[in-house]
Amino acid sequence: MAASALAPAAAQETAGERETTVASSDPGAERQSPDLEALVAQMTMREKIGQLVQRMGGRSKALNSRLGPDELEKVRRGEVGSYLHVAGAEPLRELQRVAVEEGRLGIPLLFAMDVVHGYRTIFPVPLAMAASWDPAAVREHAAVAARESSAAGLHWTFAPMVDIARDPRWGRIVEGAGEDAYLGSRMAEAQVRGFQGDSLSAPDTIMAGTKHFGAYGAAEGGRDYAGAEVGERAIQEVYLPPFRAAAEAGSASYMTAFNAVDGVPTTGNAALLRSLLRGEWGWDGLLLSDWRAIEELLAHGVAAGRADAAALALKASVDMDMVADVYADDLEAAIAADPALEALLDQAVLRILAAKRDLGLFDNPYKYHDAAREAAVMLAPEHRAAARRIAERSIVLLKNGTGTLPLARDAGRIALIGALADDPLSQLGSWRARGQVEDVVTLRAALEAAHRDVTYVPGADSRSDDAEGIAAAVAAARDADVIVLAIGEDYDWSGEARSRSSLELPGRQMELFEALEATGKPLVVVLMGGRPLAIPAIAERADAVLATWLLGIEAGPAIVRTLMGDNNPGGKLPVSFPRATGQVPVHYDHLPSGRPADPDLAKDTARYMDLPITPLYAFGHGLSYTRFDYGALALSQPRIAADGGSVTATVPVTNTGPRAGDEVVQLYMRDPVASVSRPVRQLRGFARVTLQPGETREVAFTLSSAQFALWSQAGEWLIEPGTIEVMIGSASDDIRARAVVEVVGSATGRIAPAAIATPVTIAGNR
Ligand code: NOJ
Repeated sequence: MAASALAPAAAQETAGERETTVASSDPGAERQSPDLEALVAQMTMREKIGQLVQRMGGRSKALNSRLGPDELEKVRRGEVGSYLHVAGAEPLRELQRVAVEEGRLGIPLLFAMDVVHGYRTIFPVPLAMAASWDPAAVREHAAVAARESSAAGLHWTFAPMVDIARDPRWGRIVEGAGEDAYLGSRMAEAQVRGFQGDSLSAPDTIMAGTKHFGAYGAAEGGRDYAGAEVGERAIQEVYLPPFRAAAEAGSASYMTAFNAVDGVPTTGNAALLRSLLRGEWGWDGLLLSDWRAIEELLAHGVAAGRADAAALALKASVDMDMVADVYADDLEAAIAADPALEALLDQAVLRILAAKRDLGLFDNPYKYHDAAREAAVMLAPEHRAAARRIAERSIVLLKNGTGTLPLARDAGRIALIGALADDPLSQLGSWRARGQVEDVVTLRAALEAAHRDVTYVPGADSRSDDAEGIAAAVAAARDADVIVLAIGEDYDWSGEARSRSSLELPGRQMELFEALEATGKPLVVVLMGGRPLAIPAIAERADAVLATWLLGIEAGPAIVRTLMGDNNPGGKLPVSFPRATGQVPVHYDHLPSGRPADPDLAKDTARYMDLPITPLYAFGHGLSYTRFDYGALALSQPRIAADGGSVTATVPVTNTGPRAGDEVVQLYMRDPVASVSRPVRQLRGFARVTLQPGETREVAFTLSSAQFALWSQAGEWLIEPGTIEVMIGSASDDIRARAVVEVVGSATGRIAPAAIATPVTIAGNR
């Protein structure tokens, strides 16, 4: 190809041509966005394919490390549309300069990275942030991440990860919002809005890359990358709603999942991508494959060769190929074999150029490359303060037996035990972007700073089989007034390709717990990690248990302030905690059985013989240092029209305890008789409310009939006539008030009910 033979000097010679498309070659000048169709008309096939190519600029732990002279040559020849695993205002300015100044057409590059829970200021892992049940906080985190990463030259993050996960064996459960489609949808839209702000072209916003489109979280057996064998109804009602909510919030890009759904690998799944996502949903953004996923169509056994794989992905409307170079090397052959693909190539190029235009890159390709801004915003004090606030909001009090927590100010000597208490790397979690270990304040550092008399002993960790430290831990415990024991999983137990077959505490930590419990001292467990663990013995025998996940750079202060009562925990579980690994998947919104589970073993019902039928801690569970009482539930009317009706459900909630605190008021629904069996309960609204002691507030949820729709046997959203039970409570297994509304008539809906946000108002009696 003539274009690929262009040397830098030759590229310069064609600069005159460039000026017809991109107004100026002066780095400082504002340029004019070109007419994209006219630009595509000027491109050679090699240049068009080049736009579809995303290359590694480095590795996730060695950013920019591959940006050598050969790579720059590719950029000059127009063979690259985007880089990932790159960062830094200055180095990326130079790379961008080569693209816009030395490339024949001067088309800017897109720079991308996995900024999943913070760039330099690392926030709690996403599963933890979901436990805040606070979309505003989650949005704020994404806005901070966008501010920092855009200052570091980035345009695009591969987040939010919105895969619903009901099997905690799957290590990637840490990256998402847990088991529920409604909560997941709110977290998805909050993050998209946080990353993208009001305008993608603002210098401090970035493009969201919602992932991994399809049903990646339903991987069989919790094995990463495994296929999903789920029915169409579950795909529509459970797995897709967060993606739909992200689309409604304006997500400018999506990434396809690695895995297959019902035997069809997502990256080549035209029905799911071209027909559903683009056709039915009307979404027209940039669709990216996951890492080498186009090439993996061969391993899936649906493509005989790379040209086949390229054709399948392009037909499915995958615009950009992450690092596999299948489009780069083999799409031309596929087009030669099937010329109809060329029109699809043009569509893909146009969508990629549109993303570049929307980011403002044609107008000013250098606006993300201000080194002074980069230095000023990184880890700004207000970012660290946000990380602390959100970490505090993510903590869930699972148990508080005899009012063990908060600890008294004069708690005496505290034995702090557990290697995780002194492990800063783990608090950064999976995907740490530019997070630095030295930025983290650990539990040990924070507790030693806050409390005069602390003895720290590691005892045991989550990785080794070494029990030698247990004796020293027991000695320290005997000598103390209270034990704070940090146990769970370190950062490397969860994340991509980190599936486990057992949800029990790894290493010798259970032995450590038992030895400490035997001392008879008050025992507070601080449970860390990126997934629910099966901890029935701890739940029974510890005096108090706090789930603190992996909380980011402010983990230590957030946990200590919670232990001491300066923060009253208000988080709730975004995912059920099983009693044993064999109980998974266990989720609150299961279907009723013809023989509902009954603890009476004399009856043949849907339960285990050797385990109680309930989870250890249910979805939505979370205690407080204060108490909340609920009054009666009032509906604004007893019946609504299926076609466009709405009803407001109001409940008073009172703080009847001794201190201020937050309650997450949760609204669930059930359709008891329908054309298809409906879940025993489904979340349809929530509000995190702060109440002073004695204070009552009226929490009002406005539900629309569209939120009662089901995915019908005919394959559409259907609102059926009949009753709907509305339940309000403090957890999915702690319903405090109920009412029934009647739906009159029937109607069809437009989108998944879980994707629709329920407006909530909170009125006072302060
Ligand atoms: C593979 C992962 O599945 C995806 O989530 C990530 O964004 C890419 N690698 C890029 O790092």
